[in-house]
Amino acid sequence: MDAEQRSAQATHPLAGSPDLAKVLDSVEDEIVVVDTAYRLLFANSAASGSLRAATPSPEGDLCYQVVEHTDSPCSTPVWMCPLQQMIQTGDPISITHPCPEEQGALSSAKYIKLSMYPLKDPDGRITGAVCLRRDVSAERKLEAEMLTRHHQLLALSRISEAVSGLSRLDDILNVALDTVLEIVHGTIGGILLVNQRTQELHYRVQRGLSSKYAEEVRLKIGVGIAGTVAQSGEPILLTDISTDPRTEHVDLVSAEGLKGFVSVPLRAKNKVVGVVNVASHLPGQFAREDMYLLDSIGHQVGVAIGQARLYEQLRNATDRYQSLLQHSLTAQEAERKRIARELHDGTSQMLTGLALNLQAARDIAEMIGIKDAMMEERLEKAQTLAVQTSMEVTKLINDLRPTLLDSLGLAPAIQRYVETWLQPEGIRSSVVTRGHERLPSEVEVALFRITQEAINNITKHAEATNVAIDLQCDGEKCVLRIEDDGKGFDVEEITRVEKTGRGVGLFGMKERVTLVGGRCSIESQRGRGTTIVSEVPLTGSVSDAEDQSAGG
Ligand SMILES: Nc1ncnc2c1ncn2[C@@H]1O[C@H](COP(=O)(O)OP(=O)(O)OP(=O)(O)O)[C@@H](O)[C@H]1O
Ligand SMILES: [Mg+2]
Repeated sequence: MDAEQRSAQATHPLAGSPDLAKVLDSVEDEIVVVDTAYRLLFANSAASGSLRAATPSPEGDLCYQVVEHTDSPCSTPVWMCPLQQMIQTGDPISITHPCPEEQGALSSAKYIKLSMYPLKDPDGRITGAVCLRRDVSAERKLEAEMLTRHHQLLALSRISEAVSGLSRLDDILNVALDTVLEIVHGTIGGILLVNQRTQELHYRVQRGLSSKYAEEVRLKIGVGIAGTVAQSGEPILLTDISTDPRTEHVDLVSAEGLKGFVSVPLRAKNKVVGVVNVASHLPGQFAREDMYLLDSIGHQVGVAIGQARLYEQLRNATDRYQSLLQHSLTAQEAERKRIARELHDGTSQMLTGLALNLQAARDIAEMIGIKDAMMEERLEKAQTLAVQTSMEVTKLINDLRPTLLDSLGLAPAIQRYVETWLQPEGIRSSVVTRGHERLPSEVEVALFRITQEAINNITKHAEATNVAIDLQCDGEKCVLRIEDDGKGFDVEEITRVEKTGRGVGLFGMKERVTLVGGRCSIESQRGRGTTIVSEVPLTGSVSDAEDQSAGG
């Protein structure tokens, strides 16, 4: 084939193939054929419809003029025509480029995908290209939407991961703000909470703002940007906050150099509890997508705030309950101590005096030779009764508040209690103690009361033969273990105090240990005995100690 023939074929790429031209005409995509000098050789029906050609038959026109409406081959910064690259490499090439909607104006909403395939002559030389043009704007939009959704989901999961497990309000706010700034690649922002009493918003946490700004900005609901957001529950996006007419504290905003701005509500149960603000020193820094993203995050943070407040209420109620319990236990101990002392100093002394006097009366009767069997029997009975009553009173004193506990400490008091209550029941018992130093009084009292309740339960319910008590104290903690081999019980069944009072003892044990910062475990199984372990710290609380070791 000579040069003239080749050129003729290049000028009429579909010459001799009318059927192929028909097929190409029926395709929805725009198809054009160009030569290596950008001359249009063919345009199918779809392409012809959008050509801005000078004549009805555009063949021979320059493609960039009739297709792209420019005076020179398309090049950067708009987009680079791949024809030259395709000629150099000889390979098909595909690009997606933004499409100027009007001459000179760029619209990011419309995208064209251009696929170029080389046309070669029988010698393998590239003579032109077949170009497929397709509007892929809808696909791009879908892709962008999916990407935004993906971003949102990722951001939400990051926020929820970051705040989950946190129950303190300030921890949640700090973590949420840092995560929000990270997500929008910002450095300036803050979280304002609504003060329910004054109905004012003020910064609770902030980043990149001066402390003067954070302290002085106070906004009534409905006033300023954050106030408007709090009132309407709708987010606001501003190109430049310093020029917006709704902006309050304009002097502070200008001094801070704030421009680009997004403000979104924090909602908990359909109520706005605060506002997240993100700002930039550059105007127009944030897009609508950022605002939507922050809005959905705001909802999640609002829920976390609501939960933190519930936790706070619960913590306050627990604190109140514990301090009331502490007061009532302290008063109970004082009262027990007073009654024990009165019994010891009064009733007990009198009973001892009575028993001695009765003995003296018997001695006198014997001395003066009164031999009245009935009188002797009565005197002896009365004396025995006085001695027994005195012993009962001593037991009662021991139960109320053993003097040994105050004078010699926990270990001797436990030992005496076991001797008084378990041994007379025929229950074999061993008491092992390590560390004989005196403990803080509240710890001694708490552990003694636990021992007392455990022993009462053993005598009342356990039907045990053996009891082992082990008290180990070092400088850091005391561990008291009370074990019996009795009939045991189902701990799960007794999880609350019943109306009959059943359960008060075990519940009281746990509460007493908690009050001194420790914890108490009760293990029991039917037929397998019961073990009660109480651990009380002598420095800080047991949970503090655990927290420290976990943190270190
Ligand atoms: N060592 C034990 N062996 C077997 N059962 C026990 C033992 N300790 C407790 N129980 C069972 O657990 C129940 C609850 O004990 P708890 O001390 O709380 O109440 P209580 O002894 O019945 O009443 P309270 O202590 O108020 O006098 C008991 O009624 C008993 O059934
Ligand atoms: Mg009991």
